[in-house]
Amino acid sequence: KTIKALDENKKIENLSPDIEDSTGEIITTNTGVKINDDHNSLKAGDRGPTLMEDFIFREKITHFDHERIPERVVHARGSGAHGVFRVYESMEKYTKAGFLTDPSRETPVFVRFSTVAGSRGSTDLARDVRGFATKFYTDEGIFDLVGNNMPVFFIQDALKFPDLVHAVKPEPHNEIPQAASAHDTFWDFISLMPESTHMVMWLMSDRAIPRSFRMMEGFGVHTFRLVNAANESHFVKFHWKPLLGVHSVAWDEAQKISGKDPDFHRRDLWEAIESGNFPEWELGVQIVPEADEHKFDFDLLDATKIIPEELVPVQRIGKMTLNRNPDNFFAETEQAAFHIGHVVPGIDFTNDPLLQGRLFSYTDTQLIRLGGPNFQEIPINRPINPVHNNQRDGYMRQTINRGRSSYSPNSLGGGDPAQAKAAEGGFTSYTEKISAVKIRERSRSFFDHFSQATLFYNSQSDPEKQHLIDAFRFELGKVETVAVRQRMVGILTQVDKDLATQVAHGLGLEVPEMPEKPINHSVPADADPERYEPFPP
Ligand code: HEM
Repeated sequence: KTIKALDENKKIENLSPDIEDSTGEIITTNTGVKINDDHNSLKAGDRGPTLMEDFIFREKITHFDHERIPERVVHARGSGAHGVFRVYESMEKYTKAGFLTDPSRETPVFVRFSTVAGSRGSTDLARDVRGFATKFYTDEGIFDLVGNNMPVFFIQDALKFPDLVHAVKPEPHNEIPQAASAHDTFWDFISLMPESTHMVMWLMSDRAIPRSFRMMEGFGVHTFRLVNAANESHFVKFHWKPLLGVHSVAWDEAQKISGKDPDFHRRDLWEAIESGNFPEWELGVQIVPEADEHKFDFDLLDATKIIPEELVPVQRIGKMTLNRNPDNFFAETEQAAFHIGHVVPGIDFTNDPLLQGRLFSYTDTQLIRLGGPNFQEIPINRPINPVHNNQRDGYMRQTINRGRSSYSPNSLGGGDPAQAKAAEGGFTSYTEKISAVKIRERSRSFFDHFSQATLFYNSQSDPEKQHLIDAFRFELGKVETVAVRQRMVGILTQVDKDLATQVAHGLGLEVPEMPEKPINHSVPADADPERYEPFPP
């Protein structure tokens, strides 16, 4: 089955010219010269010094000296796999994206699962969010669904992302710990940022210690748009539903596994695929007509909110199967460059301020991580359809562009490609009407930071609630600054009084009185009070 997938998968065909297998071949230099002796450097005499002339030595050591690249600034530890996606029925009512309208098409995918906080060598089973990034190599170009295994996020505005990550990452003085949560800077930030409360409930739940990547849900988090051929738009939330169900380990198991096998999730995914137990997920969508944009008591543009499935059910529209392990971790998994800005005609963005900020960040970081402007030419990153544009040159350029012109318009012919019209499948941004004043303020529709945190807590079974309480006690118990512990328990009083009481008692703290008005640090000191009434009024 793996071999069949390998033959039929267009992305695998696309990779094949770059695949090298040295088995049984004679070793050569980079310039293709056969080498007789790869064990001894060239020396002046039997016991003499190595000679500068030894180009075989110099080349080998130089390449080795340059083998490392920077790890991702977040999501550094990850595992990847190839696979395919197929939609069950045409979604043309909502989108013109070919891979979502043609059930006969099998679209190649590459998926990378990750933790967020730890470095490349950290343990798989840290309490953390898991990344779930999918690259669809569609016939109309690449679509990346760069999501997580939790449906909400810590912050509402991308301007806070560097602050979040500085707080989450190992502390700067001693580079401890390799986990998101059990330390002062994390809880200091979280307890000062009430908008993170909903996400923190997920992070302290069993969702943060998955049994396997194969048993995790995935979420696009933001509200996106689907746009159909008539240029009608619907809002959409994307989901991945694992066919093996959602499973977690217990915290005690997670700690033991981390010690015995830090590669637990990576190994599990690899072995499942090698043995033909291909993991599968259904792609789900929650679709909201434009006319219903303001019908919820939260804002669809607020990434700290879910759309409860009772309000908008998840329709399962297609299936993804991961059926082939990478040949080379570095070339494929490490060099993969996902970007939420990689969309195809039929999928578009919304004004979620977290989404908008991400649109800038990914290419920017990849320019440095992958060494310049030509990283889209790296085999794992290039689309399966041809690329034609007037971009030229730069470090490590691979493409040999024919012709004299690399500008438009031109009358000499050659390189200059023609521009597509919408009718020919070109991308046109959705014509959303915007009339606004320029303003650096948080929308009041983003202000309710606690209702959905409570909703999440109430959705948990009694044992799951106990796990959450235990997790808060464990994680906050590692915090040295008592004021931070206290402030966090104060936040929890606004989620659930019993939760706060249990956590406080576990930490030997008093339960603070619930403040009259929910804390809201997003409100600037000089804000117009009219704009800052709680939402909904
Ligand atoms: C990497 C998800 C918010 C910046 C990633 C990855 C995932 C992800 C899954 C790893 C991709 C891979 O496997 O290579 C998310 C989700 C977010 C979010 C679901 C919120 C809904 C943000 C924000 C920013 C950001 C707000 C910055 C403003 C980055 C950067 C990387 C990254 C710089 C490293 C990319 C690379 O080196 O290739 N994110 N992220 N993310 N994310 Fe995010």
